[in-house]
Amino acid sequence: MITADAYTFRILRFDAKRPEEPPAFQAYRIKVIPGLTVLAVLNRIRDEIDGTLSFRSSCRSAVCGSCAMVINGRIDLACRTQVASFGTSTIILEPLPNMEIIKDLVVDMTPFWKMYEKVRPHLVRESADPVREIRQSEKERGRIDQFVNCILCACCYGACPVISRDPEYMGPAALAKLERFTLDSRDERPENFLDTVNNEKGVWGCDMVLRCIDACPKDVRPTDSIVGLRKALVKKKAKGLLGMKKR
Ligand code: SF4
Ligand code: SF4
Ligand code: FES
Repeated sequence: MITADAYTFRILRFDAKRPEEPPAFQAYRIKVIPGLTVLAVLNRIRDEIDGTLSFRSSCRSAVCGSCAMVINGRIDLACRTQVASFGTSTIILEPLPNMEIIKDLVVDMTPFWKMYEKVRPHLVRESADPVREIRQSEKERGRIDQFVNCILCACCYGACPVISRDPEYMGPAALAKLERFTLDSRDERPENFLDTVNNEKGVWGCDMVLRCIDACPKDVRPTDSIVGLRKALVKKKAKGLLGMKKR
């Protein structure tokens, strides 16, 4: 028979519509069987104990990127984190840092999306529409492999110390997405597109503390993209060229 262990979930509660009530932890005591995820427990708390608790989720399988939060001090997806993995009976849940809390574990991701949109996160084509699909070789696809895995969960954005002191810094996810498209053999964005990140708010703002890599649940290494973009810019400068051409 599977035995359930008692856990205490301490969850940061706050409602931006009631700013007069400061954020405070609320404790929920609940029995959990081995294998249950933090998200499964959150669903139980909301469904069985407290219907006012707010959090985001959708896929329950680390694909949609909606359930990012701080779990016992570590940023991760609630749906892929097992309660028993911490070896403690107290689990502390807090919303992602670097964004305003809307309610409880739900943050306002507007700044994250604003930076994401800045890099034109899609294939940019100048040629006429092709009559058939544009094929990529295995090597061409391999160049963008890790960046394609990004699920836009904002774990890296929440972990980045530069964003916490400079909200205008573009952040790891947007820069990783930019590298994903500039390295794509099908992309035809203008030569000078990289000029938009050739500054302290872009690739030169990163402190290389690597917290984004630690936080990423999909093994994306945003710093690889930042180094790649820096190299491209330095190369162009050395050649006396303005902007960027396809690498
Ligand atoms: S390595 Fe750069 S982008 Fe990543 S968390 Fe550190 S400062 Fe932010
Ligand atoms: S790079 Fe990783 S942590 Fe950042 S948004 Fe993408 S999947 Fe999430
Ligand atoms: S619910 Fe989709 S990533 Fe967790």
